[in-house]
Amino acid sequence: MVKITIVGTGYVGLVTGACFAEVGHQVICVDNDQKKVAMLQAGGIPIYEPGLEEMVKKNVAAGRLRFTSSTPEGVQNSEVIFIAVPTPPQPDGSTDLSFVEKVAREVAGAMTEYKIVVDKSTVPVKTGEKVAETIKRYNKHNVEFDVASNPEFLREGCAVDDLMHPDRVVVGVSSERAVAKLKAIYEPFKAPIIVTDINSSELIKHACNSFLALKISYANLIATICEASGANVQDVVHGMGLDKRIGRAFLNAGLGYGGSCFPKDVSAFIHIADQLGVDFGLMKEVARINTSQIQRFLKKVRDTLWIVKDKQIGVLGLAFKPNTDDMRLAPSLDVIRPLLKEGAKIRAYDPKAMEKAREYLPDIEYAADPYAAAAGADALLVCTEWDEFKTLDLAKLKSVMGHPTVLDGRNIFDPKRMKELGFTYKSIGR
Ligand code: UDX
Repeated sequence: MVKITIVGTGYVGLVTGACFAEVGHQVICVDNDQKKVAMLQAGGIPIYEPGLEEMVKKNVAAGRLRFTSSTPEGVQNSEVIFIAVPTPPQPDGSTDLSFVEKVAREVAGAMTEYKIVVDKSTVPVKTGEKVAETIKRYNKHNVEFDVASNPEFLREGCAVDDLMHPDRVVVGVSSERAVAKLKAIYEPFKAPIIVTDINSSELIKHACNSFLALKISYANLIATICEASGANVQDVVHGMGLDKRIGRAFLNAGLGYGGSCFPKDVSAFIHIADQLGVDFGLMKEVARINTSQIQRFLKKVRDTLWIVKDKQIGVLGLAFKPNTDDMRLAPSLDVIRPLLKEGAKIRAYDPKAMEKAREYLPDIEYAADPYAAAAGADALLVCTEWDEFKTLDLAKLKSVMGHPTVLDGRNIFDPKRMKELGFTYKSIGR
C-alpha cells in the first residue's frame, strides 16, 4: 500500500484516484474547487464515466479514498503526490502550464520530508525540468524530493477500464528510490512498466496522441479520395487494418477528432517542436485536414438543401464521441453553429450530453428521443456514433421526417439499406 495524493479531480485525477484506491492504495484527492469537493464528499460525481460512481462509493466506504480542498493536508499525509491539473491551450497553441506551476509551488511549500512529485497532466517535453526547479526554489523546509513524469493514456467513456487494464505504464524518472515506489503503485495493475528519463516519458504522451490524430486524418483523407474515385473507405480501412503493422483502430473516417485532448495536444506538439527548432509540418497538415473535414460535411449539407435558411435540421449526437457527456471541442459544435448562423432551425438529441450542450448551444431545441429530433426535419445529421442510433427503426424515422434526407457524419448506416428504404443518404467516403 502506498499513500498517495492526487491534486486535481478532473477526468484524469478522479479516475486515477479511484483506481489507485481500488487496488488497495490510500488515496487523497485534492481540488481547489470547494463546490466540487463538497459534491464528491456528499457522494456525487461531477462527470459521467461508466463504472466510476460505483468505484468511488466503494472505496470511500472502505476508507481508502477521501476528498479535500487542502493541498498541504494531502502532501503531509502521503509519500507520492500526483499533479493532475488542466493544461489548457493558449491562443498561440502553446500549453498554459500555470496550474502545474502553482501546484508545484504549493506542494513544495508543504513538504516536511522526502516526497515524490509526479506529473500526470499532459505537458510538453522539458516541463519536468521546470517542475523540479520550481520545487527546489519553494522547498521551504529544504527536504529531499524526486520529480517524475507518468503520462495518462485513458480515453473518456472507458477511462476506468483503460486505467485498470493499461497496455503499458510509462514512468519517467531518474532516481532508483522513486522508481521503486512508482513500481509499487503500479504493480497491482499487472501491465508492462516502461521506465525512461523524464523528457522521453513526456514525449511518449504527445507522440502517441499525435500519432492517433494522424491516423484519423489519414483515414479522412483516404475517404476524400474514395469519394472522388467511387471507392468505399470502410473497405479500404478494413483492408489496411488487417495488416498487423497498421492495425484497424483509429482509422474511422468521419467528422474528425474533437475533445479535450487531440486538438490541444496536436497544437502543443507543433508548438514545442517549433520552439526546439523542428518544423512539424506533418502535424500541421493533420490539423488542417481535421478542420477541412467539417467544411466538407457542411458543403454536403448546403449542396443537399441548397438554401439552409428556415430549414428544420435534426441532429443525432452532440458529445465529441460516444459514451461521454463531454462537449469540449465537439465536432457537432462546428457543424451546428454555422448552420444556425445561416438561419437553420436545429433540434438535437444526445443520450448523455444534452445538459452540458445547453451551455454551448443555448439557441437550439433539444428533443426527448431520436425520432423527436427528426420530426418534420428537412435533413437529419449524424454527428456522434452512439450505439442506440445504429439500431433505430429506420422506417419509423423516415415516416416522421419532413423529407427523408440523412447526412451521416459517422458512417453508422448502411448506404444500400438507406437507399432501399427511400432515403436520400450521404455519408463519408462511401
Ligand atoms: C484520447 C486518447 O485516446 C487517450 O489515450 C488520451 O489519454 C486522451 O486523448 P479521448 O480524447 O478520450 O482520448 O478520445 P478518443 O477515443 O481517443 O477519441 C478522440 C476523437 O477522435 C473523438 O472525437 C473521436 O470521435 C475521434 N475518432 C477516433 C475518429 O474520428 N476516428 C477514429 O477512428 C477514432
